[in-house]
Amino acid sequence: MEFERLLKEYLSTRRDFVKYSSYAGMCLAVSPSVLAVHAKGVRYTTSGQALNFTGVVPSPRTEDSVRVPNGFKWEAVIKWGDPLFNDTPGIDFTDARNQSIGTPKNVERQKKAFGYNNDFLGIVKTKDGKYILLVNHEYTNAEVMFPSINTNSPREYTEDEVKLLMEAHGVSVVEIRRKQGGGWEYVRGSSYNRRISATTPIEIGGPLKGHDRMKTSRNPNGDEVLGTLNNCAGGITPWGTMLTCEENFHSYFAGDRNAVPDTITKSMMDRYGVPSSSSSSYQFHRVDNRFDVAQEPNECHRFGYVVEIDPMNPNKKPVKRTALGRFRHEGATCAVAPNGKVVVYSGDDARGEYIYKFITKGTYNPNNREANWGLLDEGALYVAKFETNGGRWIHLAFSEKDAQGNFTARLSDELRDALQAYINKSNNPEDRRQVAQAMLNDPKLVFLYTRFAADVVGATKMERPEDIEWNPITKSAWGCMTYDNTKAYTNPVNTRTPDFMGYILEIKETNGDPSSLTFTWDVPIFCGIPQHADQSKRLIIKGQDAPASYPPISAPDNLTFDSKGRVWIATDGNPSSSRLGLNDGVYVYDPRTGELKAFMFGPAGSEICGPLLSDDENTFFCAIQHPGERSSVSDPSSLFPYDGTPIPRPSVIAIYRA
Ligand code: FEO
Ligand code: CA
Ligand code: CA
Ligand code: CA
Repeated sequence: MEFERLLKEYLSTRRDFVKYSSYAGMCLAVSPSVLAVHAKGVRYTTSGQALNFTGVVPSPRTEDSVRVPNGFKWEAVIKWGDPLFNDTPGIDFTDARNQSIGTPKNVERQKKAFGYNNDFLGIVKTKDGKYILLVNHEYTNAEVMFPSINTNSPREYTEDEVKLLMEAHGVSVVEIRRKQGGGWEYVRGSSYNRRISATTPIEIGGPLKGHDRMKTSRNPNGDEVLGTLNNCAGGITPWGTMLTCEENFHSYFAGDRNAVPDTITKSMMDRYGVPSSSSSSYQFHRVDNRFDVAQEPNECHRFGYVVEIDPMNPNKKPVKRTALGRFRHEGATCAVAPNGKVVVYSGDDARGEYIYKFITKGTYNPNNREANWGLLDEGALYVAKFETNGGRWIHLAFSEKDAQGNFTARLSDELRDALQAYINKSNNPEDRRQVAQAMLNDPKLVFLYTRFAADVVGATKMERPEDIEWNPITKSAWGCMTYDNTKAYTNPVNTRTPDFMGYILEIKETNGDPSSLTFTWDVPIFCGIPQHADQSKRLIIKGQDAPASYPPISAPDNLTFDSKGRVWIATDGNPSSSRLGLNDGVYVYDPRTGELKAFMFGPAGSEICGPLLSDDENTFFCAIQHPGERSSVSDPSSLFPYDGTPIPRPSVIAIYRA
C-alpha cells in the first residue's frame, strides 16, 4: 500500500525530526509584554505548556486512536448528545446498534443537547471570568448515527430521524471551566448554555433584510429565517460575539430547478449548486417543504451567510449579516485596522472560488459593547485579485442605512462598468446577462449573488479557500487553500496543477494594515510529503524542499496562532489515498524558522477542526469531527471517544500536559 510505504519512509527519518523539534523549543523567545488580541477571542499574556512539545508521528488512516505529544494527555470536554440543561437528559444511545436513535424522545433531547460534527471553536470570557465555548455543528453523518444506511445510496430516513438530524445541526453555546488537577469540563445548566439548530428563528439583517428575493410563504416580510446550516468555521468579533458561517448550504436543497419559473433565480441556483445531489444525506425536504426548491424557490436565498450570535445573552436573536455577502462561507475572522474599522476575511470553499473581505463603514467601539451590534451591516465588500507581484482588493459594493434607517446599496464603479461590459457582450449566456442587468438595477443583488459579481470583475479563482485569518504577530492574513486536483485554471498564485495537497497562503497587506486595498503575497508552505519524487506532491517550505524529517501534511483547513506568531494548522483530507493515507492532524509552523512539527492526530474517519489555545496557552482545544465517517453503525471504523457508547460521538477535546 502506498501509504504504508510513505509511513515507513517517514518513520525512518524520525531521528532528524526529533532534533529539529528540540531546536525549535530553544529558539522561541518572545517578550512577555507581548499582548495580542487573538482572532478567536482570547487575550494572551503568557507562553504556556502547550507551546513546547516533541513532534508526533502520524497515524495510519485505519488507526482508531488520538495521538498527542509525549507527556500530554487528551480528554473529551463535551460530546455529541451531552445534555446542556438540567431539565432534559442527553441522547439515549443504549441500543444504538440495533434500534435507531431517531425517536421522538431523542429528538426532544437533541434540541437541548450538544450537536453533531463540531467544527469551529471559539471562547469568550464573561466580565466575571467565566469561559463560554462556542461550537459549530457543521453537518451529520447518518451512516454512523442510524442503522442500515449505505452512504452511496442512503435509505429513506424516518421522519423522526430527519428531525433529529435537523436538531443536531447549528451551534452550541456552553460554559466550560477548569477542573481541579488540570483539564476542562462543561457546566451543565449554566445560564449561558444555548442551542441553535436548523429550526431556530434567526433575523435577516443588513441590505437583504426584507428584500423581495428573501420572501417566502412562511415569512412574507423576508426578515426571519428558521435555522442556520452547515456551520463550518467562524470567528469571534472584537466585541465578543460569535460569527458562525454557513458553508455548503446548497446540499440541503432538493427538487427540480427547472420547475422554478424565474430565470434569474434559476440561473443563480446553477451558479451556487442548488439543489444538490447530496440532499439525500439529509432529506430535510421530506419533512419540511421549504427545502424543495420547486415549492419554495426563495428559501435557498436565505442561507449562505455569516450569522452573528451574542453569547452573553441567550435570549437575543441571532442575525444573518447579509452585507458580508452570500457564498459558501468557510469562516469569517476579524481584525481591527489602525483607523478603527473592522475587517472581516472570508473564503468561499469550493473549487475555483474566491477570497473576500469586508470593511465596516463605522469603527469598533471598545467602550460600548452594545454599540457594535450592527456594525457588520454597513460597509464595503471586496474580492481578491492576485497578480504575479502583488494583488489588490476589488471593491464590489457598499451597504449602508439611510436617514430613515432603511438599507441602501451602491455598486462600485469597477463593478458597474464590468456589468455593463458583460451585458454588451452578446456571446455571454442570456440568463447571466439578465442577472447582470438586474444587478445594475438593484445593487443589493451583489450581496445575494456575490459569486456572480466576483466572476464579472475577474477575481482570482482559488483552490477551495478555507480559513483566512489575521495573524496579529506577523501582521498578515494567513489562508488555507485546501487542495484542488481537478483544476481547470492556473493563475499567478495557484501554480501547482493538479494540486493534490493544498497550500498555505500569506497575504501581506500594505503597511501591515488589514484595511489596505493592495497587498503582496507569498506561499510559505506547499503541502505534501517531504522529498516526494512527484513535484506536485512534495512538501516545499519557503521555496525549499523540506527536510525528510518533517511530517507529511495535506489539505490544510483551519488555523490559529499562538503568542509567538506560530501558525497551528488543522487538516481535513490526509486520509485519502491520493494524499497521505494518514489520519488528519494538527501541525505547528514557525514562520521565522520555517520549522513544521505535528502536534496531534485524530481517530479513524475524522478530521480535526476548530484549533484553539486557552488564554494561558496550557491547553489546546480542537473538535474531532465525523469519527468513523463512511463506515456504519453495525461496523463503525471508530468508537471515539471510547466511553462505551456503541457508535462514535464527535466531541471537543482538550489536550494538555499530564
Ligand atoms: Fe466545511 Fe470548507 O470545510
Ligand atoms: Ca472547514
Ligand atoms: Ca470538512
Ligand atoms: Ca474542509
